[in-house]
Amino acid sequence: MSQSRPIATPQVHSNGHMYGPPIIVASKVEKTYNTGKVTVRALKGIDLKILEGEMVAIMGPSGCGKTTLLNVLSGLDDVTAGEVVIAGSPLHAMKDKKRTLFRAEKMGFVFQAFNLLPVLSAAENVELPLLVSGVKPGLARRKAQEALEMVGLASEVSKRPAEMSGGQQQRVTIARALVNKPAIVWADEPTGNLDSETSGAIMDLLCKLNAESVQTFVIVSHDLSVAMKAHRIVHMRDGLIESDRPVPVAGK
Ligand SMILES: Nc1ncnc2c1ncn2[C@@H]1O[C@H](COP(=O)(O)OP(=O)(O)O)[C@@H](O)[C@H]1O
Ligand SMILES: [Mg+2]
Repeated sequence: MSQSRPIATPQVHSNGHMYGPPIIVASKVEKTYNTGKVTVRALKGIDLKILEGEMVAIMGPSGCGKTTLLNVLSGLDDVTAGEVVIAGSPLHAMKDKKRTLFRAEKMGFVFQAFNLLPVLSAAENVELPLLVSGVKPGLARRKAQEALEMVGLASEVSKRPAEMSGGQQQRVTIARALVNKPAIVWADEPTGNLDSETSGAIMDLLCKLNAESVQTFVIVSHDLSVAMKAHRIVHMRDGLIESDRPVPVAGK
């Protein structure tokens, strides 16, 4: 898995991390929800550029639009106005079916609720998306095992979710998000259900995976100790970006 996504013209940034060209470019993105009589302007004009290999944390108070931003940047939901370009492709202009395929190929998702199927083992949960996209069972199992090894669960492959701790279950979802080697991993409150020690371990794992594979990570969290492990923190307030700052490099 290491160096699985070599970037064409990697640049070593002054913070010591290696980045490629912009992989996520959002311009004037707006999102309005219309539910019956109520209209909510959840995003009011977001401009954001994220480089390949960056690890970005999105912070801000509850209801400020973090999940909405993740959903429209990843194409899980439509924008109301504006443009989202992912790896040069205009996501906002894609038809549903094409967008779904694009997402399956390029993106992995980690959510707060682990979303594991309780009747399946860890290996079965991880290989499921591969089987759905037509990978042969033998190869899918090998890839699932490799992904579970990568997150430190080599000896838990046949356990079901209920037989694992919260931290282990979240590692399974991370393995599942990474099994396709996606260019971008989106995580919405990935440590929200975990104690602080386990949260730290999960973030250390995400940082290690980011450093090894030059994958791009966008992580929503309201926990500053989690966000401080990213390379950059974007603060949102009331549907807008309030600040966007690099995280100081330790020892500098
Ligand atoms: N599906 C939806 N329908 C209507 N309103 C929504 C929907 N999802 C989110 N909202 C509203 O949009 C705003 C932003 O929500 P959200 O993106 O979930 O914020 P956060 O993740 O920062 O807590 C909130 O006012 C929320 O109530
Ligand atoms: Mg949210």
